Amino acid sequence: MSIYLDNAATTFPKPPAVYAAVQHAMAEVGANPGRASHRRARDALAMVSDPRRRTAEILGIPDPDRVAFTKSATESINVVLKGWLRPGDKVLTSGLEHNSVVRPLARLETLGVRTEIIPCSRRGELDLEGFARALEGGLRLVVLTHASNVNGALLPIPRIARMCRESGVPLFLDAAQTAGVQPISAGEWDLGMLACSGHKGLLGPAGVGVLYVREDLDVLPLVEGGTGSRSEDPRQPGFCPDRYESGTLNFPGIAGLGAGIRYLLEEGLETVLNHELKLAAEIEDGLSELNGVEVLRPSVRGTGVVSFTVEGMSPDEVAFLLDKAFDIAVRSGLHCAPQAHRTLGTFPSGTVRVSPGHMNTPEQIDSFLRSVHTILQHRR
Ligand SMILES: Cc1ncc(COP(=O)(O)O)c(C=O)c1O
Repeated sequence: MSIYLDNAATTFPKPPAVYAAVQHAMAEVGANPGRASHRRARDALAMVSDPRRRTAEILGIPDPDRVAFTKSATESINVVLKGWLRPGDKVLTSGLEHNSVVRPLARLETLGVRTEIIPCSRRGELDLEGFARALEGGLRLVVLTHASNVNGALLPIPRIARMCRESGVPLFLDAAQTAGVQPISAGEWDLGMLACSGHKGLLGPAGVGVLYVREDLDVLPLVEGGTGSRSEDPRQPGFCPDRYESGTLNFPGIAGLGAGIRYLLEEGLETVLNHELKLAAEIEDGLSELNGVEVLRPSVRGTGVVSFTVEGMSPDEVAFLLDKAFDIAVRSGLHCAPQAHRTLGTFPSGTVRVSPGHMNTPEQIDSFLRSVHTILQHRR
């Protein structure tokens, strides 16, 4: 039986209600939300407003209208970095970031934006003293991942958010790995901006991302166009979410996201998190007993993501054998986060990454561990 352990890339399977919501949106509602006043369009609008409310609820965003739907976390990150930073600005980030942050920043550097990277330890701990010093250096923005997509290391965001607030620097949180898994309170933490994917921990389909921008921050949109509002005005509306939602929304995807979040709210985030952490602990402990396997244990674990290496075998080889011989899906390589691998000491070959999700069982983890054991026995 096929075992899927690549939930950090995207969660699978989704709760059945997610598939049903997508089907309902496409086959039974069908109209374009916010573009007309007929009944179908009103139903379509409700299919977007309702998920917007739920998204705000699960991320602790006080006003649902501050939630904009994009196509991905990557797009949301691009909106913020390119719509907020100007030549000469300085931005602070960490040594654990995903390419979704690293690459837009590299592009912005060519336009005169300066980036400072606060290092992290090999166990994923941010140098908080260095961070506090850097905060005094005339910053325009701090952008940080909430948890590493390589080994699940959690950054102490409530504490960091307090430090940012005291220094008057907006904190932009990349919650791609933690939304729907870790408790998040954008309002209480006074985050400046937040980006996350709809298709990972929030259990929605691919093609929807979430963007939150605090009301007092003037982040320019990346795309302008039709919003269904203020059509007489050639300028992009200044109010949210329309400011960041030009063009027809992916309403079937958003409806699916709403169903995913409803499932999470009914299950309870704590139950989901504990399940993932328990499976991750079983993976870590089981792998640690195997000869020649090194597990990249984080100092503080925030998600179920576990990375490991095998002596004498490349990560690609291990992942290939798991897939081919045992039908177990894991990911190998750099996981779009070369900077994190440099920090964790696994650049350039990367790691094997195992990421259990809400649907995985302890029996599947046992099968995975037995399969790695068998692979090791046959190692040349
Ligand atoms: C930490 C982090 N940030 C951003 C992203 C980008 O998410 P998406 O591919 O949904 O745009 C990912 C995806 O894996 C991620 O792990």
